[in-house]
Amino acid sequence: MTEQLNPAHIMQTATAFWASKVLLTAVELDLFTTLGDGEWSASQLGQRLGLHPRGTHDFFDALVALKFLDRDGDGPDGKYRNTPETAAFLNRKSPAYIGGLPEMLNARLFAFWNDLGTALKTGQPQNEVRRGGKPLFEELCSSEARLGTFLEAMSGFQAANFSVLAEKFPFDNYRTVSDVGGALALLSRIVGARHPHLTFTSFDLRPVEPLARHHIRAAGMDGRINAVSGDFFRDELPGADVVTMGNILHDWNLDRKKLLIRKAYDALTPGGAFIAIENLIDDARRENAFGLLMSLNMLIETGDGFDYTGADFQAWCTEAGFTRFEFIGLAGPTSAAIAYK
Ligand SMILES: C[S@@+](CC[C@H](N)C(=O)[O-])C[C@H]1O[C@@H](n2cnc3c(N)ncnc32)[C@H](O)[C@@H]1O
Repeated sequence: MTEQLNPAHIMQTATAFWASKVLLTAVELDLFTTLGDGEWSASQLGQRLGLHPRGTHDFFDALVALKFLDRDGDGPDGKYRNTPETAAFLNRKSPAYIGGLPEMLNARLFAFWNDLGTALKTGQPQNEVRRGGKPLFEELCSSEARLGTFLEAMSGFQAANFSVLAEKFPFDNYRTVSDVGGALALLSRIVGARHPHLTFTSFDLRPVEPLARHHIRAAGMDGRINAVSGDFFRDELPGADVVTMGNILHDWNLDRKKLLIRKAYDALTPGGAFIAIENLIDDARRENAFGLLMSLNMLIETGDGFDYTGADFQAWCTEAGFTRFEFIGLAGPTSAAIAYK
């Protein structure tokens, strides 16, 4: 029997962190920005990055084999260059840069996930909180640099999802959007660029406001996107025809999820739409591995936050008074869960 079985899948997942760490380290070293549009031999590139020659060939060739670099020629004269994807998404000078996400995974979560076993045994977060820090968002807001890195990482996660949402959701039927926990106002900027008739409120904690304003101004959208500060547990949510929450509900426990859903309901005009953009887990909890891993990530980050299924969303929103539901697949494992008032 065991002769027909194959351990390849076990081996691949067991060693997956090697590949992950190679990519994260390449971003940490700013390799993809250093390469830019150029082509360099291993020794030239190694020198530019300040690397010891011992590991350079293996490191660059592993990136070639993992399809994060292209190489012309073999041996010492081989020249390395960005792939079309790394040039677009991991060169810091590209407008589509999403390196904030790998930067944050590398600087924070890679080490915190080492304590997954402890999280599972204790139910307690394993991030800065465990090391004497404050809860996640208080900790992030206490350092502008760390907050900036975290919010850029969120943008990296969501950029493709917001673009698909802008295409697939019928925004033509609405005039105003409140993005609750709007971070750097990315949803407002992306959806706003696609639908010029809409105006937006991007609502988030006070320390986030100047960072959001900076991005709104840079996009030339000051007149259409208003960055507003507040606490979504204490303050009323800004009223609108559409209320969006991207990766918000999963940060919190069930009581707080339900509170936010009720507040979204109250903030909506009649017939309005509440949209949660999250890595919705399939109802049978068998398929969306990324959604389930994200939920474990919420254990590491927040302790009591968790990801959820479409059926969960529908049940909680029905309790709050919503009457009609729809689910739209976005990029990769992410969905828009939509509840209509
Ligand atoms: C996981 S991030 C999601 C950001 C963005 N919506 C997205 O989809 O990428 C959570 C956001 O909620 C904000 N936030 C956390 N607690 C908040 C509170 N009590 N009131 C308002 N915003 C809050 C954070 O500052 C952060 O921008």
